[in-house]
Amino acid sequence: MLDIRHLSHNYGSHWALKDCSFTLEKGGFLFLSGPSGAGKTTLLRLLHGALPLQRGQAQVAGFDLARLRSHDLPALRRHVSVVFQDFRILPARTAFANIALPLEVRGLDARASGRRVRAVARALGLEHRLDTPAGELSGGEQQRVAVARAIVVNPQVLLADEPTGNLDPDLSLRLMDVFMQFNAYGTTVVLATHNPELIRRNPAARLIHLDDGMITHANWPGARLSCRADACDLLEGP
Ligand SMILES: Nc1ncnc2c1ncn2[C@@H]1O[C@H](COP(=O)(O)OP(=O)(O)OP(=O)(O)O)[C@@H](O)[C@H]1O
Ligand SMILES: [Mg+2]
Repeated sequence: MLDIRHLSHNYGSHWALKDCSFTLEKGGFLFLSGPSGAGKTTLLRLLHGALPLQRGQAQVAGFDLARLRSHDLPALRRHVSVVFQDFRILPARTAFANIALPLEVRGLDARASGRRVRAVARALGLEHRLDTPAGELSGGEQQRVAVARAIVVNPQVLLADEPTGNLDPDLSLRLMDVFMQFNAYGTTVVLATHNPELIRRNPAARLIHLDDGMITHANWPGARLSCRADACDLLEGP
């Protein structure tokens, strides 16, 4: 489902990712860990086409990102859903409208759409907040709206950037259960987190640890540690 080879990415002279390679099978669950600034968001942004590929290759849900053109993005995004670190919900619209948006875009009729929105909202403990403008919700509620909007379409791949960052421990675990349920039904999940407790509770999941843009630890043979020599070469060249 994901095949990433020698991916590197720079912002000006700063290399935020250096020689990252891994493959993740369909239905896999991958944690991305690493300190602030390690490159987690950069990697997720590359995987859904929000940043253009500079070096290396990446196949995501059957799309070759090196060949991706802007008009291919809507097709990629139909298969790959994202929970952004900063939510990006529409504050003036209700929680319901925010969650229903991707179903509307896909042309689902209002009744079927309403059923799915309510089912996902129930799973995330949002059923009593659906009529509230999203801008009036707490940070944790907004975060759950962002998660609901991403999973309501039953994506092939779900990329989630610190989805539990604003949640208390109980809600974090509840959210993880929802991710695990979707994963059990076949959604491939990549979840960036600072929270070692979430990782500890899910020892069967794949894990990649990023440090200063490099893969410095992984717990399965499908990931390759970044080659320090290649990473150093990057720092020398433009
Ligand atoms: N748009 C940008 N322009 C320049 N530098 C950037 C940009 N975005 C990220 N960086 C830099 O790239 C590096 C990796 O950033 P990234 O956001 O991917 O880290 P992260 O692991 O997601 O961190 P956090 O845990 O704080 O979210 C950091 O040094 C950051 O300052
Ligand atoms: Mg980040």
